[in-house]
Amino acid sequence: MSEQKYILFVDDERSVLRSLKRAFIRSGHKLYFADTAELGLEILAAGKGRIDMVLSDMRMPGMDGYDFLKKIKEDYPQVIRLILSGFVEESYVYKALIDGSAKTYLAKPWSTKELIDLVNSLIEIEDKLKAKNLLEIINTVGELPTLPDIYQKIMALIDADADFDKIVAVIENDPAMTAKVLQVANSAFFKSGTASLKRAAVFIGLMALKDIVAGSAVFEALAAPDLGPYSIEVIWEHAVVCNGLVSEMYELIHDEKIPEDVASVGLLHNVGILVMLKYFPDELLQVVDQQKKHPELTQLQLEEEVLGVDHARLGAYLLNWWNMPYPLIEAALFHHDPLAAAPGNQEIIVLLHVADHLTQIEAGAENIKPLDPEIFTRVEIPGRFREQCQILEKENDCE
Ligand SMILES: [Fe+2]
Repeated sequence: MSEQKYILFVDDERSVLRSLKRAFIRSGHKLYFADTAELGLEILAAGKGRIDMVLSDMRMPGMDGYDFLKKIKEDYPQVIRLILSGFVEESYVYKALIDGSAKTYLAKPWSTKELIDLVNSLIEIEDKLKAKNLLEIINTVGELPTLPDIYQKIMALIDADADFDKIVAVIENDPAMTAKVLQVANSAFFKSGTASLKRAAVFIGLMALKDIVAGSAVFEALAAPDLGPYSIEVIWEHAVVCNGLVSEMYELIHDEKIPEDVASVGLLHNVGILVMLKYFPDELLQVVDQQKKHPELTQLQLEEEVLGVDHARLGAYLLNWWNMPYPLIEAALFHHDPLAAAPGNQEIIVLLHVADHLTQIEAGAENIKPLDPEIFTRVEIPGRFREQCQILEKENDCE
């Protein structure tokens, strides 16, 4: 059980507040309730930064949920912000997710179990990212890198509700980023491929576009020289292939396009390796070396042994620090242990894990362990991919 958290619930409907109270009364957390955003802000101010998490309705008289969460993002950026939304608030929710005012959302009518699971998983992630050994290692890095100007520029345009065309024009001004967006869009969304950024952008939607831009910006911010089997290009290629496979599997399972908010989860799952490449190259080389001597250990176990933390947690930390969307952070944190992810995005993270596994074996990576059979009981992996896993695992003597 994690330590006690301070959670603030804001909803103008008293009946909703009452049911929230019933749901969380035995959670062990300290609970606060407000029936207006204004009162919510007063509670936040009185708590002087002590509130850990805010769950807010969107449509409220007076200050609405969007402006409320946006204000919290500005004044108390460390507070975890979550939307509890109704059916009619889709565009509001979209706006809050896209500019980072909220980390994630749960649509009404939510079940108590769903809500408690989501809150617990957010708290667990928060705790994992605040672990002492992780912070100590991050502290040795000194100043963490900022994302390139083009990303800030695009975020500012999104914040200002700028025209889609304007956003596309800014990306088009940067040939490297344009190439990356097209590459990802073509691998994940189009079979035939398009050379038009505008066409791709319209098709994939603003949220997916923003996440691809974020992915590209993160790779630019963490650029580092090649080292042993690692290079930033190889990691990017791997990420794009995995991302495409996740979309493909999702479409086969559900017979519909992957939702925009999770369409780019594959791009940043190995950001932690980039962090190691840039800031801990000696340790990364030691891990590579140890992999030959200890084939029985996983890469993550060796990283933990050499550096004291693995690339999953390192990557998730940095994505959280950059205020990236929750699904991207979750994907980075759980891509090697997808069954530990909360039910909400678990399917997507399992698909990413399978895509990562397949791509690694195909690239000739050593010491790959076979997939946990439990995975196939939780998610219906399409037959073609299942068979491919079995064949490749056999061919490569994975054990
Ligand atoms: Fe990984």
